[in-house]
Amino acid sequence: KRLVLIGPPGSGKGTQSPVIKDEYCLCHLATGDMLRSAVAAKTPLGIKAKEAMDKGELVSDDLVVGIINEAMKKPSCEKGFILDGFPRTVVQAEKVSSLISNDMFIGEKKLIQLDEMLEKQGTEIDKVLNFAIDDSILEERITGRWIHPASGRSYHTKFAPPKVYGFDDVTGEPLIQRKDDTAQVLKSRLEAFHKQTELVIDYYAKKGVLAQLHAENPPKEVTVEVQKVLSS
Ligand code: AP5
Ligand code: ZN
Ligand code: ZN
Repeated sequence: KRLVLIGPPGSGKGTQSPVIKDEYCLCHLATGDMLRSAVAAKTPLGIKAKEAMDKGELVSDDLVVGIINEAMKKPSCEKGFILDGFPRTVVQAEKVSSLISNDMFIGEKKLIQLDEMLEKQGTEIDKVLNFAIDDSILEERITGRWIHPASGRSYHTKFAPPKVYGFDDVTGEPLIQRKDDTAQVLKSRLEAFHKQTELVIDYYAKKGVLAQLHAENPPKEVTVEVQKVLSS
């Protein structure tokens, strides 16, 4: 399966990802997580991405398409993947579509008919899960979030507290808050979502692969909804 998770900041993409990943044995490709580790490691990519991320703006399409292209080549992604936080612009959506079709049709399958190939264009993504939610709920989710940077696991002081306050359940390592998880930066992130990413939702709706989730519900209810969509 090739899945895309799309939704505003704090809508629960990162929270639902591990459930889907384990159930379907897919790899989880979260551009936000990858960019944050690049920033922490001060790699050339991280240095280029930091300013936009701190302001809550989108990083350039070229940079994120580059990291996704690399990440999709991992052998663990053979069974399929979950794209979390990507694509976020129509340009990214079109790029990912051509990356996947290259993988599918060049090489051993290059004898496939051209019309078959065109038919596949743009539908290489099996399902796009839209984490639909009202903006007003998101500030509380974002400002209460704590993450374990190494694994990407997230917690919430009120909605998903760790077993020991301030520490990761699995490794016991300390939790941190994301630099962009302030009420102020959230405003820019939401603006980027409404201006740029909502067009990607329309794009996938037209392709007929969009599924709506009620992301305002408690995490377990959202999980049930996700499972229903994926088994249908
Ligand atoms: P990214 O890391 O992708 O951030 P985001 O899209 O803003 O999404 P979040 O991670 O904030 O939200 P989430 O939906 O994963 O929420 P979570 O499940 O953790 O991107 C960060 C930055 O990187 C961007 O601003 C941009 O600069 C750059 N970037 C990344 N990808 C890019 C791209 N493709 N192009 C350009 N730039 C890119 O949940 C949030 C909190 O709520 C948690 O504490 C959780 O415990 C809690 N919670 C979750 N679900 C529920 C629920 N159902 N009920 C109650 N609480 C819940
Ligand atoms: Zn996330
Ligand atoms: Zn909007």
